[in-house]
Amino acid sequence: MYTEKVIEHFRHPHNMGKMKDYSAVGKVGNIVCGDVMWLYIKVDKDPKGREVICDISWETFGCTAAIATSSMVSEMAKGKTLKEAIAITNKNVASELDGLPPIKMHCSALAADALNEAIYEYLTQNQQEIPDALKRRHERLAKEMASLEERYKAFLAKEQVANEAKSVSREEYAPD
Ligand code: FES
Repeated sequence: MYTEKVIEHFRHPHNMGKMKDYSAVGKVGNIVCGDVMWLYIKVDKDPKGREVICDISWETFGCTAAIATSSMVSEMAKGKTLKEAIAITNKNVASELDGLPPIKMHCSALAADALNEAIYEYLTQNQQEIPDALKRRHERLAKEMASLEERYKAFLAKEQVANEAKSVSREEYAPD
């Protein structure tokens, strides 16, 4: 069962949508369940000269928990310094939502991982030092994606062939 907070964030998601002038984007996906998330951050300096996430938005194609955790992570990271935002974990996100069913805990990882990846991309683009913990998480995500893609290569190739066949048949039947 989902908590009231999960249902509330699912029904009225905060900060949802694509951002045009973002500083960096984190893209993550779970090709087992097919859910994907893009998380955009806009970074600016605060009066103390610290880099803060002044704006954030996301697009998620996923389950109720994936939508609610995307909404919650965006609220948690908004206005935070990069250092504070890096410290946000999937467990923090789940606990801010008053918990998630155990079978849905992996969905909260999608949101925290996307935030991680957006900050990683920002620091890389701006040639800044990348904290060890962030680097380790990025390497783990890259490895997981590579192994998932490898494991499902045959399936994905079959899907691509099917999609190409579909688009050919759509063209054939397209009205003039
Ligand atoms: S079932 Fe895949 S993120 Fe929820």
